[in-house]
Amino acid sequence: MNTAQPIGVFDSGIGGLTVVRALTHHLPHENIIYFGDTARVPYGPKSPQVVREYALQDTDVLLHHDVKLIVIACNTVSAVALDVVQKRAKVPVVGVILPGAEAAARATTNNRIGVIGTVGTIFSNAYTNAIRQIDPDISVFGQPCPLFVSLAEEGWINHKATELIAKEYLFPLTLEKIDTLVMGCTHYPILREVIGKVLHQSVTLIDSGEATALAVKNLLTEKAMNNPSTLKPNLQFFVSDVPHKFTEIGERFLGRKLGKVQRVSGFLS
Ligand code: DGL
Repeated sequence: MNTAQPIGVFDSGIGGLTVVRALTHHLPHENIIYFGDTARVPYGPKSPQVVREYALQDTDVLLHHDVKLIVIACNTVSAVALDVVQKRAKVPVVGVILPGAEAAARATTNNRIGVIGTVGTIFSNAYTNAIRQIDPDISVFGQPCPLFVSLAEEGWINHKATELIAKEYLFPLTLEKIDTLVMGCTHYPILREVIGKVLHQSVTLIDSGEATALAVKNLLTEKAMNNPSTLKPNLQFFVSDVPHKFTEIGERFLGRKLGKVQRVSGFLS
């Protein structure tokens, strides 16, 4: 294996760019290929069967580019399709659930953790199962927050409506006296400030994407798979459709200029 080969990252759409942002921060010399299935986003409300099918097609796009490792940036895919992706790929596959669960289990002091995510992620119980496997004494409280995806894409970061919706979604979790909250969706770190404000800052927020970037860093070191080059890495972005405002939203999520975005041809045929 050539260690200069890129890390492949895929997501249901644009949200996975928050994970790419964390990866480029912790692994500044790695080449990265990103694929976002923007033509079929959102995956959150879809059935596990459909998400598993889509996940395999997304995986094939990355395998076609000879990636050395795959990161499933999408929480919904990581929750219901990690096993099928691992089976398909002959390279290591890292999902966001386990790193997020581990970080939350380390952070809690009162053993009460909240998890927010898409309907698919929360109904799968993937975070609950992962956390309770680490420590069965921890109680986990899940809450789907589907509207957060649209609010983050709209850029309604400091908007009254976002605060009202956040209060509505997060109120049940405050009643459970959680001291740690997993932001179990690619989009939620964009709304970090309002989530923290509504929870009165006393709750530790876990960014699964950030935890995943650290897990990837450890894995590359452990397997001696780091790119030895210290040159500026190559970041390539592929999508299944180029929707309106893609670049504007993408740059906000990535925290820098996107450069060229290419549409994968023949993906949907
Ligand atoms: N990327 C998805 C996730 O992290 C959110 C958007 C969607 O529903 O597809 O679960």
